[in-house]
Amino acid sequence: MVANLSIGVIVLLICTLSLLFSANVGRDPEPTRSSKVVMLSCGESAESGGWRPSSAPRSDWPPPTKETNGYLSVRCNGGLNQQHINMWMMLQICNAVLSARIMNATLVLPELDANSFWHDDSGFQGIYAVEHFIDTLKYDVKIVGMIPDVHKNGKTMKIKAFQIRPPRDAPIDWYLTTALTAMKEHSAIYLTPFSHRLAEEIDSPEYQRLRYHALRLKPHIMKLSESIVDKLRSLGHFMSIHLRFEMDMLAFAGCFDIFNPEEQKILKKYRKENFAEKRLIYNERRAIGKCPLTPEEVGLILRAMRFDNSTRIYLAAGELFGGERFMKPFRTLFPRLDNHSSVDPSEELSPNSQGLIGSAVDYMVFVSCPTFSCQRTMGRATSPTIS
Ligand SMILES: *[C@@H]1O[C@H](CO)[C@@H](O)[C@H](O)[C@H]1NC(C)=O
Ligand SMILES: *[C@@H]1O[C@H](CO)[C@@H](O)[C@H](O)[C@H]1NC(C)=O
Ligand SMILES: *[C@@H]1O[C@H](CO)[C@@H](O)[C@H](O)[C@H]1NC(C)=O
Repeated sequence: MVANLSIGVIVLLICTLSLLFSANVGRDPEPTRSSKVVMLSCGESAESGGWRPSSAPRSDWPPPTKETNGYLSVRCNGGLNQQHINMWMMLQICNAVLSARIMNATLVLPELDANSFWHDDSGFQGIYAVEHFIDTLKYDVKIVGMIPDVHKNGKTMKIKAFQIRPPRDAPIDWYLTTALTAMKEHSAIYLTPFSHRLAEEIDSPEYQRLRYHALRLKPHIMKLSESIVDKLRSLGHFMSIHLRFEMDMLAFAGCFDIFNPEEQKILKKYRKENFAEKRLIYNERRAIGKCPLTPEEVGLILRAMRFDNSTRIYLAAGELFGGERFMKPFRTLFPRLDNHSSVDPSEELSPNSQGLIGSAVDYMVFVSCPTFSCQRTMGRATSPTIS
């Protein structure tokens, strides 16, 4: 199995920062060029400063073709820990939607891989509003629950999807050649694993738009997220960030040197148990840019960008490794911190804050804000692959 540690969310953070920054210095508020990761930044309201959501098509966008080239089925595989899987799943689902559009194919509702990391068997229907999902995307792609049988000469036949393992970050070209050829031959293809199987850099703003428009969560998650966003907005400007300073990321990246012996032991054990063996020179990792920024470093960057200590920051869930020792310097720089449990007016999240719903809400806090795409700035440091 290939597990993928997706683009570190720190990338999102950097995107957020650069967007806020570019907005602050009054540059083009509408970055639509080739993009990497969606991010958000939250101001007073969605309309503020001329920013607008990027989900509406801006140019000619024909409906899906009547003739389908075949069925596209994908298996979304999990990330490395529960808190992030929701997000990786979402990105994969968005990619599945886009791949189907590119190929003029009919998308079969994605399979979610409930692997050992994901102790939640709710599956696609449990998390996403299926009808809403299909309906919202009807102008973009055709979606079916399963591959229908074919009836031919009075006989009913099942279509067996042809399984393919896509190359990592496959370009659109791969979908239009290898995948499409197989699809036309077999009527249906099944892509697995699917994490990181469609290049992030695609030179079409409309495709990028579709990618991030593709997902709607179940209504109650939406409602909860909306109430949190409303509450946050009612308190004024805020910024959302996800400090990707977490055990899986640190263990994977081999960033041990700043931790004490016990912490190093935990990280090394986690690394050994979860990742393929690979020789890394641990003492070098930070120097060569392979480690996630510490909370303090993130704080210093923000301060250097002239966000002062009155800036309200919403921290997306995710357990910070090393705890208070690393969080304290950040809190000193930015004392006004919020998270979903501190903001949630319904208190529904408090007992549940580490679960899927919590991370779904965090994600929605991001995407409920005006959404922007931007160029990756620190991808190398934070998008490792494990084979
Ligand atoms: C998909 O359909 C559009 C519109 O009919 C067409 O321009 C495009 O070439 C088709 N692409 C594929 C891969 O079939
Ligand atoms: C922010 O910094 C100023 C100046 O250093 C200080 O007076 C103020 O108390 C700080 N505010 C908070 C909320 O820590
Ligand atoms: C959320 O913030 C509260 C209050 O600041 C804190 O006690 C709690 O540990 C935080 N929860 C998470 C999941 O970080």
